[in-house]
Formats: sequence, C-alpha cells, structure tokens
Amino acid sequence: MKIDRNAPVGVFDSGVGGLTVAREIMRNLPSEKIVYFGDTARVPYGSKSKETIIRYSRQIIRFLQEQQVKAIVVACNTASAFALDAVRDELDIPIIGVIEPGARVAAEETKNKRVGIIGTIGTVDSGIHADYLKMLDPQITVIAKACPLFVPLVEEGWLHDSVTLEVAGRYLKEFKDEEVDTLILGCTHYPLLRSTIRTVMGEDVRLVNPAYETALELLRLLKEKDLLSTGTGQEEFPYRFYVSDLADKFKDFANSILPYDVEMTQKINIEKY
Ligand code: DGL
Repeated sequence: MKIDRNAPVGVFDSGVGGLTVAREIMRNLPSEKIVYFGDTARVPYGSKSKETIIRYSRQIIRFLQEQQVKAIVVACNTASAFALDAVRDELDIPIIGVIEPGARVAAEETKNKRVGIIGTIGTVDSGIHADYLKMLDPQITVIAKACPLFVPLVEEGWLHDSVTLEVAGRYLKEFKDEEVDTLILGCTHYPLLRSTIRTVMGEDVRLVNPAYETALELLRLLKEKDLLSTGTGQEEFPYRFYVSDLADKFKDFANSILPYDVEMTQKINIEKY
C-alpha cells in the first residue's frame, strides 16, 4: 500500500491527556497535520480491563484510518500497555506508543538507579515500564504506584489546586521515602500536574515526560519510512479534533494548553466503528 506522506498523523487518548503529546508534535514537527481523538465518553481507561481497552483502541484506529492517517501515535499509556502489541500486526501503517520512549529516557538519566513510575492502575499493574527498564538496565530498582485520582482531577481542570496538592502529597510520599532520583510521568494526563508534582518531589528529582521523546520517536520513524510531510504546516485546519462526548468542554481545555487556537471540536459516535 502506498502511504500519502502529506496525510495527517492520528493521535488518540482517553481524553485530554494525549494533548500533552499532540503539543510536542506541534512544537517539534510543525509541518505535520494531526487528527486527534479523545474518548471523552469512556474516560477513564486506567480502571478498565485489557479486553475493553483493546476493543476501544481498535474502534478508534478504525475511525482514524477512515480519516486516512499515515501513522498513529497511541498517546495513552494504558492503551499503549494493553493494546499496542495486539493492534500493531493488524495495521499497514506505522504505530507507536508512549511507554518505550519514557522508559528509555529514565534509564539514561537515573544516577542512583532508583526509578519511580506513576500511572493508571492498568498501566502500573501491567508492569510494562518496569519490564522495559529492567531490559535496558538490570541494575535499576523500580518503584511503581497507581495514582487513580489524578486523571479526574486533570479532566476537571484542577491543575493548580490545594486539593490536588494534598492528593499528590499522599501518593508521592513513598517515592520520597524510597529516594528515587527519576520519576516517570507514566500517564499522559500527568504532565499537566507537573508543577504540583514538582512541588511535592522537590527540585532534585528528574520528572520524565515521555511526550517529548515520543514526538522525537515519531520524527525518526517518519524519516525512516520516508513519510515526512512536504507541506508547509500553513494549511487551513492542520489540526482536527474529535471526541466521543462533550465537545465544547474539550475545546476549552485544549485551548488552555495548546499553542494553537482550536476552533472546532467534533463529536462522533465511536461505538459505530
Ligand atoms: N492518559 C491515559 C494514560 O496515559 C489514560 C488515563 C485514563 O483514562 O485513565 O494512561
């Protein structure tokens, strides 16, 4: 199959979290167009089963393929952990997730070889970050903890709030006690809580946001496959946003964090895919 190099890249998440990845793609690959899907009707993914997340991911991928994307970025750790292996072989376009890039940076950056991981229940229970880290460096001790209240706090927009700070203090205490020097933000919603997490963890702990590395991984992949866009990035509507519910709420949120003016977000019926 001949893939159109000027087609958009598909990016998806359970909700607004994947915007942290889309934001890095916008900054680092400015000529690429994006079709973003946020599954706002079915968020959160982190407390659902593997079978359910695979089913959701397949539906979203079918939708993105209908939009004729040239590559897909699974901008969700939970879907990357549960569904990436299952869907990769079903596709004739490239697909990448967010877990490997984050693990790679953490393994490179840690000095005391004590790495913390925070994520959803699904991601943490899958053990996938720990597996990668151990594969990259068997000396690394991994401490992982699910922080299930973080996603609803982000979706609610409570990014800088005393309640969020209190919750973060409780979740993150263990990492301070364990003296990790590197903490992977293993859920794409969490970079939006970065300043709160920074306040709790202090200045000396390296916070790894896999979004930037994922954008660089996408750049490498598109280059390797000869799929980099030749467009100018100035086309009308280079970025299109779709959700499964509450389109206006999503649009307001997206506008508060993206370096781009989101004019329209469209609701679609993802169950029909
Ligand atoms: N942002 C997603 C992740 O990276 C999922 C959060 C959720 O829906 O629970 O895991």
